[in-house]
Amino acid sequence: MASHDTTTQSAGAAPHQRLGQAPAPDLLDPAERMGVDELRALQLRRLRWTLDHAYANVPLYRKKFDEAGVRPADLRTLEDIGLFPHTTKADLRDNYPFGMFAVPQEQVSRIHASSGTTGRPTVVGYTREDIDTWATVVARSIRAAGGRPGHKVHVSYGYGLFTGGLGAHYGAEKLGCTVIPASGGQTAKQVQLIQDFRPEIIMVTPSYMLTLMDEFERQGIDPRTTSLRIGIFGAEPWTEQMRREIEERFDIHAVDIYGLSEVMGPGVANECVETKDGLHVWEDHFYPEVLDPVTQEVLPDGQSGELVFTSLTKQAMPVIRYRTRDLTTLRPGTARPMRRMDKVTGRSDDMIILRGVNVFPTQIEEIVLGLDGLAPHFQLVLTKEGRLDRMAVRIEAAPDCTAERRTALSREIVATVKDRVGVSVTVDVVDPEQIERSVGKFRRIVDQRPRA
Ligand code: DLL
Repeated sequence: MASHDTTTQSAGAAPHQRLGQAPAPDLLDPAERMGVDELRALQLRRLRWTLDHAYANVPLYRKKFDEAGVRPADLRTLEDIGLFPHTTKADLRDNYPFGMFAVPQEQVSRIHASSGTTGRPTVVGYTREDIDTWATVVARSIRAAGGRPGHKVHVSYGYGLFTGGLGAHYGAEKLGCTVIPASGGQTAKQVQLIQDFRPEIIMVTPSYMLTLMDEFERQGIDPRTTSLRIGIFGAEPWTEQMRREIEERFDIHAVDIYGLSEVMGPGVANECVETKDGLHVWEDHFYPEVLDPVTQEVLPDGQSGELVFTSLTKQAMPVIRYRTRDLTTLRPGTARPMRRMDKVTGRSDDMIILRGVNVFPTQIEEIVLGLDGLAPHFQLVLTKEGRLDRMAVRIEAAPDCTAERRTALSREIVATVKDRVGVSVTVDVVDPEQIERSVGKFRRIVDQRPRA
């Protein structure tokens, strides 16, 4: 078994220094040690297999490929993926529940689903081998975040049809960790479990981590004194400002994990703790592209657009050029040979168009977090006045914030948002505990506009 970071390092070093290390090369998966050329050759072989498998076994792909006049054999290089049609969430919905499966139902050993805001959920399926692949990429993600065999991992992602809980769980087990399957909710109990079981790692949405932080403080416990050393946060967008806030308030490493049900679940990409410079996409299993969301043209690395994925090894539900709606930029690998994606700034469907200006909640988060006198809890309330959309930033005051300071902070936020984002907003600094708390994925936008 690998040595345990917490026991091998000198006492007295700050936890940040103690656990933020790269894994020894012999701990890495073979794909994490490959040269880029070898990785590209592996991807090409796997991509050919995936296209054949999808065309032969999923009527939707056969129809789409036929309509576009392409055959799997037309793929000669990785770039040829651009010849193939995209897949969207609507395709999955139209084939509800099992129409996207490429294997007989008896071979599907697990089903997950993501609840849309309206209508049918999106259903995804996994063979036994898919579950193992998924556990492998999540184990790799936890290791990249600094986790090692023997660590205790507290999982506060929801268990159930949502992929977060079970995805994290199997990955942590596969790495050789001790899993505490807390799931979401029952916040006071979570704090007690963390105090009693002393996990080194927590996997949870960043917004629920803030809820936990409040609960620690409510119980008179300084969050910096817990056993936690690493947080693996994802399932919703979060910013560098949020990273700083969480790292300082808990004295931990805060590392980003990305994924989506349609492609697998958590563990499609993860940051490496030693660099924290974007998320390495586990490219031996998922082939990423970035598109111009309007023209659908494939953009070169370094340009921002919509992230698109093709699965390379999935058996039960291969996805071909799935449009995630997530906005990011691809960059060359650093700590690993795989390319990195920038932190997701938002989903194209989360974009608020305010009097012609595109606004993402993360832009507001960058401005309001870390301002002295405010708590890190905020929501954006959209209303309509006549024909004009209006946005109010509701944010909580810290308990010791005076009335004068609140007024000054409101003015400062209004001016900074106008200056950096280019829109006029109103700001409402409310009393502590007035903003709803997250128990999982947080609803940052409260849309009170009348439905058209
Ligand atoms: O949220 C899977 C997941 C669970 C990822 C736990 C990470 C941790 P879905 O419910 O299908 O799956 O939602 C996927 O969530 O398309 C993004 O819009 C958003 N998302 C996921 N991770 C991140 C992240 C899970 N790290 C959708 N940063 C995705 C920003 C994220 N957005």
